Amino acid sequence: MVAIPCPQISWLIFVCGFSVGFLATSYLFSSVLENKGAQVHIMGLTTWKFRPSNTYTKQVSTDSGDHSVSEDLSRKVRVLCWIMTAPANLQTKTIHVKHSWTRHCNITLFMSSVTNESFPTIGLGTKEGRDELYWKTIRAFQYIHKHYFDKADWFLKADDDTYVIMENLRLLLSNYTPDQPIYLGKRFKVFVNQGYMSGGAGYVLNKESLKRFVEGFQTGVCTHLSSVEDLELGKCLEKMGIAAGDTRDTENRETFHPFTPDFHINGRFAQGDSYRHYCYYPFAEGPQCCSDLAISYHYVSPELMHMLEYFTYHLRPYGYQYRYQPPLPVNAHKLSATRIGNNFTTPSSSIGSNLS
Ligand SMILES: *[C@@H]1O[C@H](CO)[C@@H](O)[C@H](O)[C@H]1NC(C)=O
Ligand SMILES: *[C@@H]1O[C@H](CO)[C@@H](O)[C@H](O)[C@H]1NC(C)=O
Repeated sequence: MVAIPCPQISWLIFVCGFSVGFLATSYLFSSVLENKGAQVHIMGLTTWKFRPSNTYTKQVSTDSGDHSVSEDLSRKVRVLCWIMTAPANLQTKTIHVKHSWTRHCNITLFMSSVTNESFPTIGLGTKEGRDELYWKTIRAFQYIHKHYFDKADWFLKADDDTYVIMENLRLLLSNYTPDQPIYLGKRFKVFVNQGYMSGGAGYVLNKESLKRFVEGFQTGVCTHLSSVEDLELGKCLEKMGIAAGDTRDTENRETFHPFTPDFHINGRFAQGDSYRHYCYYPFAEGPQCCSDLAISYHYVSPELMHMLEYFTYHLRPYGYQYRYQPPLPVNAHKLSATRIGNNFTTPSSSIGSNLS
């Protein structure tokens, strides 16, 4: 090899020039990436299923490829989130809900038996414990109806161990109007003709369904028959003519999930698990369990909550938004189940009518 003679000074200029150029390019690149980041959530390949129905006149199809309509609507969808909690949970669970996903709600209310002005929580004047859950729900919705009816269009109930991706919820809600008689969540098919929504996965009422729920108690059409809050609320709303909606995506994958991502994705439901028979739509575990636009998970520990926050809002495969995303292999869950050992059963609270 012939060495090219090069005075030292030229090298210096070259190195300096190169560094400046490199820094400028990476700066430009990172600004481009930051700008693109805001669009990532609408660039997924799946979208909401268009479910025509004579009552649902203002549905918006996002299938056209023009996402600006749904993006614009999703910005306008006002959601009040209320979290069912208890004094003993504030520092162990509720604080993590407060500092993670509820920041994306338009209004957040923490409903408890007693008022705590510093957290803050709203005291509903009930006792604590499982038996009080439906009383708390009734009182919470009455309180919201009285004080917040005009401040939001949708009213989401979630537990202090539910994780919700609010942007995906808004995208779903933008298919509906606040005055349609409908409520949405993870639909179970048992005990109520039209089914009812799981409490733990979170469910959302709009103005019309909130109004009718409160009326149901004023008129005596609905009463406090048992403490199983999600089931009783489902019965009341059915009597009041509120439809239980379908929240699956275009691929028929569910968006609201009553268990952890691990349970759904890795298929940890035992053969005889009642959950399989509770699902209104065909039961699915493994890669078909969960929409790319998933909305909620339940039994989420504080640690998992912070991990989900990272996976949802921070982790990005570089260049993802312009690339084809190959589907998961059909047997992915079987592989992982073999590897991990499928000795898991669902939490005991998932059995029978305790499932919420
Ligand atoms: C509701 O909250 C979202 C997310 O924080 C925000 O983008 C939107 O502007 C809010 N809408 C209203 C009407 O305040
Ligand atoms: C009220 O909330 C504050 C702040 O989260 C907490 O430190 C305090 O222990 C709570 N008080 C009661 C009585 O739970």
